Amino acid sequence: MSLRDRCPMLQFNDLGDERGKLVVIEGERAIPFKIERVFYIYDSDSSVIRGQHANRLSEFVLINVAGKSKVRITDGDEEFIVELNEPMTGIYIPKMIWKDMYDFSSDSVLLVLSNTHYDGSEYIRDYDEYLKEVEKVNA
Ligand code: TYD
Repeated sequence: MSLRDRCPMLQFNDLGDERGKLVVIEGERAIPFKIERVFYIYDSDSSVIRGQHANRLSEFVLINVAGKSKVRITDGDEEFIVELNEPMTGIYIPKMIWKDMYDFSSDSVLLVLSNTHYDGSEYIRDYDEYLKEVEKVNA
């Protein structure tokens, strides 16, 4: 399966009406996992690169609920970049995928949903180590 197919864009339903927009994301329905963790990143300016890690266990859905940012995604073999710029669209990133988030607009609020509680030991922050481990996973 290609990297893009493994990291699909997700389109969420707008349940809004004349009072405004309403986007609902339910675990195991709109996204492929049960939500154990929610965090959001804001006040990162355009010179900042965040992420720069892969996760042995965590899966993520990233949504720019305001503003925009870019995500560079690689599995050490293929690579692609997406711009997140609308609250109704997210990207699913499975475990053992390397990601960098950057080019944050000043109004960017990047919402992240995950299937895990935080555990720093399942983060791989060294790219060479990631390449070693990902080869093992794909072997
Ligand atoms: P970091 O992983 O560098 O953030 P990002 O991936 O967005 O660049 O996390 C920054 C700090 O926050 C680091 O000390 C770990 C801590 N942290 C938690 O305690 N829980 C979490 O869920 C996250 C994402 C980070």
